[in-house]
Amino acid sequence: MKLFSTMFIISCLTLLACTKKQESTASELIVGTDAAYAPFESETADKTVQGFDIDIIKAIAEKAGFKVKIVNTPWEGLFNQLESGDRDILISAITINEERRKVMDFSEPYFEAVQLIAVPVSSKVTKFDELKSLKVGVQTGTTGDEIASRLLGKSSQNIKRFEGTPLALQELTNGGVDAVVADNGVIDNFLKNNPKTFKTVSDPSFAKEHYGIAVRKGNTSLLKKINEGLQAIKSDGTYDRIHKNYFTEKKN
Ligand code: ARG
Repeated sequence: MKLFSTMFIISCLTLLACTKKQESTASELIVGTDAAYAPFESETADKTVQGFDIDIIKAIAEKAGFKVKIVNTPWEGLFNQLESGDRDILISAITINEERRKVMDFSEPYFEAVQLIAVPVSSKVTKFDELKSLKVGVQTGTTGDEIASRLLGKSSQNIKRFEGTPLALQELTNGGVDAVVADNGVIDNFLKNNPKTFKTVSDPSFAKEHYGIAVRKGNTSLLKKINEGLQAIKSDGTYDRIHKNYFTEKKN
């Protein structure tokens, strides 16, 4: 009788464990993004988050067998939300760098980018160094902020920090700053939709950047799934198909 009840308990526990496992694989992973960054992530009038990054993470999730729920919040809180467990994944045109690697783990790179300078059409600026004594707009805490801070000094009054890149570009259009430094894809996209509002200056001294999908530090099982999914969408043409929908030039 004792043996019988022990066996019963064991099988109950096994059943419970299996159900739990099934539940967690079937449940949604929360993906954080700052959706003011077209064409990578943006919000439609009805609050749907769309863009290159969104299509990429959905395609990866489908291959890797998990579901995603996309949550849009400002850039500045994203890294903390991942660390605290409020988000499982971040995809937000995030450049992989050593400082960020200390607090999160990154997938293999999925996109190549570079900083680009936006200036008024009449501007005489031809290279980054010439921004030294000008008012420069950046999105707070981005790689654009980082390089502008290096050139002008982190606490320079001439660096104008904005919550979003579109706000910085708006300020350039309004004449409140002399230049904006941000990712090429986003500046090019803004200019495409607002022709002749400003012109762009590229500088060969800017290093190549690579976007990565972030997970909590040590979440190796999820990272593995993401990397496998990314590989799968690259080999079967899904990545290229998505890329073509957002970018006309050759893929990176
Ligand atoms: N690539 C830049 C960085 O990692 C800017 C990313 C901003 N992304 C966004 N969705 N606002 O710092």
